[in-house]
Amino acid sequence: MGVNLSGRNFLKLLDFTPAEIEYLIDLSADFKQLKRAGVPHRHLEGKNIVLLFEKTSTRTRCSFEVAGYDLGMGVTYLDPASSQMGNKESIEDTARVLGRMYDGIEYRGFDQAIVEELAANAGVPVWNGLTTEFHPTQMIADMLTVREKFGHLRGLKLTFFGDARNNVANSLMVVCAKMGMRFCACGPKENMPEAELVEQCRAIAAQTGGEVVLTDSVDEGARDANVLYTDIWVSMGEPAELWAERIRLLSPYQVNAAVMEKAAADAIFMHCLPSFHDTKTTVGADIAQKFGIEEMEVTDEVFESSRSVVFDEAENRMHSIKAVMYATLK
Ligand code: CP
Ligand code: NVA
Repeated sequence: MGVNLSGRNFLKLLDFTPAEIEYLIDLSADFKQLKRAGVPHRHLEGKNIVLLFEKTSTRTRCSFEVAGYDLGMGVTYLDPASSQMGNKESIEDTARVLGRMYDGIEYRGFDQAIVEELAANAGVPVWNGLTTEFHPTQMIADMLTVREKFGHLRGLKLTFFGDARNNVANSLMVVCAKMGMRFCACGPKENMPEAELVEQCRAIAAQTGGEVVLTDSVDEGARDANVLYTDIWVSMGEPAELWAERIRLLSPYQVNAAVMEKAAADAIFMHCLPSFHDTKTTVGADIAQKFGIEEMEVTDEVFESSRSVVFDEAENRMHSIKAVMYATLK
């Protein structure tokens, strides 16, 4: 039976079957071709969407805006200071108001429960643009990127190094399990994903032929890995006081040339971005001054190397967000 996601929310990949995820990856590749060939695709002309951001963004915001315009839609952006949500109006009331005006709602912010509550009350599709727990639109872009490089997903080993309990690591574990990939979380025991989510993903992997492994050994994580993935050590919404502890715990899990050397010969490096690979940012410079380290989760050498596909990955955010919006609004 064909896949039909019309009217669905896009809140976390646990809600989608492997066939539905594959459909979204295929659709992303199709939209990428259309964009590259300059073929107009204003399939959602006349619709309007609203983007609610309670945390900052470059890629996700711009992807939703450009994808929305390319599809012919009107787009409203609301930053944390410009809406009543949370301060003067409940999530439930906000959802009921926006659902009367818009055809789809994107939310980036804090608890997964907030985006779930928006979706329960909006009456139109709601898309998760990142919560504390999950970052599902990133996953469609990441899987498209991996597939572009290897031609397939099944059986590939993807290792996430570092803060393996953050939104990106959680989401990678889910998507790898769904797609029959071998996921490895490589970090200290303090930063491992929640046991309940690990068990859920292991049960999925048992059905798909995938695997979920947790290890504190860099050798084990890197061995045979096709994809080496990392993310910043302190995520948005976490207190700056955490830096000292995270640097101590996660420095051994930095992705550097020695780690890449231990991986499969054709291994690629991925990162959702933004990344602290040098001191050309306010935070990077501040950390360098306070802690004496100029690179964090990945070295500049690996980030800038030919193994690094981070900018293909960033471009793919736009194509895949377009696919998610089209599939759920058409
Ligand atoms: N990867 C990602 O979500 O980037 P932004 O925070 O810039 O949206
Ligand atoms: N884990 C990061 C991802 C940013 C795209 C954060 O939540 O800040």
